Amino acid sequence: MRRLKLAAVRRMAPEVLVTAKTQPWAPEELLRTLIDAAIAARDASNARARLRAANFPVRKTLEDFDVAASCVARPTFDYLASLEWIRAAECPVLVGPAGTGKSHLLVALGHAAVDAGHRVRYFSAVELVETLYRGLADNSVGGSSSRSCGPTT
Ligand SMILES: Nc1ncnc2c1ncn2[C@@H]1O[C@H](COP(=O)(O)OP(=O)(O)OP(=O)(O)O)[C@@H](O)[C@H]1O
Ligand SMILES: [Mg+2]
Repeated sequence: MRRLKLAAVRRMAPEVLVTAKTQPWAPEELLRTLIDAAIAARDASNARARLRAANFPVRKTLEDFDVAASCVARPTFDYLASLEWIRAAECPVLVGPAGTGKSHLLVALGHAAVDAGHRVRYFSAVELVETLYRGLADNSVGGSSSRSCGPTT
């Protein structure tokens, strides 16, 4: 398990084995429990890595967003929260006065997308233009990375 880097399974194995003996579990039940734990640990670790890579400037969630206090209509919020716009390759644009929750909603949507398994990268407009210019200069713009459509401000 150490060599396979199954740290979570290693941690829980002694307790699970005791349960499996005392219950007792069928062998396939034990196998399923340990494999489920390995998958859950791998998913969580991938999600943490995607969250780091997203480089959000703040931590904001959809749960913390007060829809009633904002100018965003509930159906619009629900549509955005469904992440259907990612599958439809649409780019939502949030426009409004300072301090009205635009960045909060964008980052929260990015966070939800990370949780849903998407690769997300936060850029300010300035950073994005600089990155694209740098990419043009060293010819690294193009290929699959330029086709991703993530939230930006
Ligand atoms: N509807 C809301 N529900 C919960 N928190 C909110 C809401 N609107 C604003 N806030 C909070 O108010 C603060 C300012 O919001 P935010 O930074 O998202 O504003 P903004 O519209 O991006 O402003 P700016 O145009 O200056 O960038 C944040 O801490 C944000 O979490
Ligand atoms: Mg903002």
